[in-house]
Amino acid sequence: EMMKELSGLYVLESKLKEMLNLSEVIVVPGDSDQDVWVKNDMGKAAADRLKRQLSAKNIIAVTGGTTLASVAEMMTPIQKGQQLLFVPARGGLGEKVENQANTICSTMAQKANGEYRLLHLPDQLSKETYLSLMAEPGVKEVMELIHSAGIVLHGIGDAKTMAVRRNSDPSLLQKLEKEKAVAEAFGYYFDQQGEVVHRVRTIGLQLDELQNSDFIMAVAGGSSKSDAIAAFMKHGPKKVLITDEGAARQLLGRS
Ligand code: G3H
Repeated sequence: EMMKELSGLYVLESKLKEMLNLSEVIVVPGDSDQDVWVKNDMGKAAADRLKRQLSAKNIIAVTGGTTLASVAEMMTPIQKGQQLLFVPARGGLGEKVENQANTICSTMAQKANGEYRLLHLPDQLSKETYLSLMAEPGVKEVMELIHSAGIVLHGIGDAKTMAVRRNSDPSLLQKLEKEKAVAEAFGYYFDQQGEVVHRVRTIGLQLDELQNSDFIMAVAGGSSKSDAIAAFMKHGPKKVLITDEGAARQLLGRS
């Protein structure tokens, strides 16, 4: 903490909190675009912050991505008597197994000594498949848990990086370019104003349902994500952001 004060990170945190209209910001030193260990430090900060938030019974919805995978890696056992249930926020988004919400959800639960439920769904559902899966009792049960999650933990990605990483159709890449998408979160793509320009059709938490959760924490860093973070944060309600110095300095430099 002493180091943090001396390095001016507290100043970055309070400036960023004001600029992005957030309820809390934690900035870890370094830039995860430059140094890979910085992502683990964000993961550790997020896991610690999550643990301070927990009460006796919590349902925690988590998204995918490499940053959330770091949060899962850094998770440590919770106190005895606490009951935690981890669920994936949304179904398949076209990610590799290690970056999928299901994988991250089960790792987090194992490390925390909690429980988990998964959504076993194919990626990129057709409308018919989507509607019939929604009617399945097993899916319905997990959906109810997702909707009652008091805590949501998610990553934010650069729109193009995410679309390419998910092997999206050339038509989607064109659409994102045309609509000037800069951010991605929960399988939604956003433009600079924070408006949704595309949504991946999959089961789970929809963006407008976020407001039902008490605690929404984004974990995203690296100077290359500054536009994405700024765009996504234009969406209410007030959120918590765990980021790194690289993203923080880039964000504040733009204002
Ligand atoms: O869902 C993925 C996130 O939006 C960003 O992924 O943490 O690997 O950059 P990342």
